[in-house]
Amino acid sequence: MSSGIATSVEQLHTPYPYHAGQRIPLRDSNGVEFLVDIVHEYPFTISPAVVVNLHKDGVVQEAVLKLYDRRFGELRKRRLPSGKKQPQPHTKESEAAFQDYARSGKLIPVFNRLKHVDLMYDLHREVIPPPDPEEEEKRPERERLAEEEATFYYNIQKRYTDEVRVYDKLKHLQGRGIPRFFTTVTLHMPSPPPDLEPSYFQVPGILIERLHGFNLSDLVTEMPEGPHEVWADIIQKAIDLAVEINRAGVLDGDSQPRNAIVTRREDNTYEVRRIDFGEADLESDLTYYREHEPDLFKQTAMTAGNPDALGGVMVSKVKRLTGVKLDVVYNEPFPESGGLPIPEGIY
Ligand SMILES: Nc1ncnc2c1ncn2[C@@H]1O[C@H](COP(=O)(O)OP(=O)(O)O)[C@@H](O)[C@H]1O
Ligand SMILES: [Mg+2]
Repeated sequence: MSSGIATSVEQLHTPYPYHAGQRIPLRDSNGVEFLVDIVHEYPFTISPAVVVNLHKDGVVQEAVLKLYDRRFGELRKRRLPSGKKQPQPHTKESEAAFQDYARSGKLIPVFNRLKHVDLMYDLHREVIPPPDPEEEEKRPERERLAEEEATFYYNIQKRYTDEVRVYDKLKHLQGRGIPRFFTTVTLHMPSPPPDLEPSYFQVPGILIERLHGFNLSDLVTEMPEGPHEVWADIIQKAIDLAVEINRAGVLDGDSQPRNAIVTRREDNTYEVRRIDFGEADLESDLTYYREHEPDLFKQTAMTAGNPDALGGVMVSKVKRLTGVKLDVVYNEPFPESGGLPIPEGIY
């Protein structure tokens, strides 16, 4: 085989494995192994989310499996000198670069650097700019691939940990405002190298309650007949839920209608639940890092506008699609608190 062909094989994208009809082995947080059958795939952005049938203790149960797999999803981007971001698919070559880095002890320094960037933000709100794409262009490609792969690993692990922590923090809302949380799971990537840290080759995931409904963003197409009061009632529920989540000490970095699910109850009333907490912060983190700023969480929540990012966006969308102006109440999570102080020099 010529080296040209070998290279092109290495650059083939790793095939996406989470399709309906696939059976996959999982291990739960107690180390119990079981199989799940994928029966439905949702469109996703960062984390593959699929409906599975679980085979456990002789019974079959339905759940949603959400996976945090560094090999797939929209986190995988390379910033070009033009400022554009280009999808960066996982390939044999990028995996080999990552494994070389792991083997030569270069991965840990990359993780430490990424942790430092996060910490500087948590402690001082200092944003450390990402590497200059022009400088990056000059680095050997193999090194870039390795560092990117390490960054994707770090970022996806962080989303996983954040989401699990939010489900724990919002325990009282499980089964009402958010799905019930069943267990964390892990899945093994094929052929993990025996000499390297196993967790680099494990895909963490969560098994949560499947909600039968539609994304709030599709309100008008899913319920074209309304009635308008029901649209307003559903949007109001989404606003109130966002307020409740903030007041429970969770700040959502990804508050948007696609991350709210509308379900119809048996009595024909509607219920809204929030999903997708991969970008959420906890009040306890802010308090931990900035104990001298006791109002920071409330101020940040007021500035972030989680309720409006659902309610305001949906009211505008309904107006745009149907001309109907809905009446909803824009509740604030902490009305007694203002937003974040404006940094000096800006007025
Ligand atoms: N528990 C659930 N019940 C029903 N649908 C879900 C559930 N969790 C996720 N989904 C669907 O999967 C999609 C992707 O999941 P999400 O958690 O938003 O991940 P991401 O935005 O990272 O792709 C959601 O927009 C939704 O349509
Ligand atoms: Mg989402």
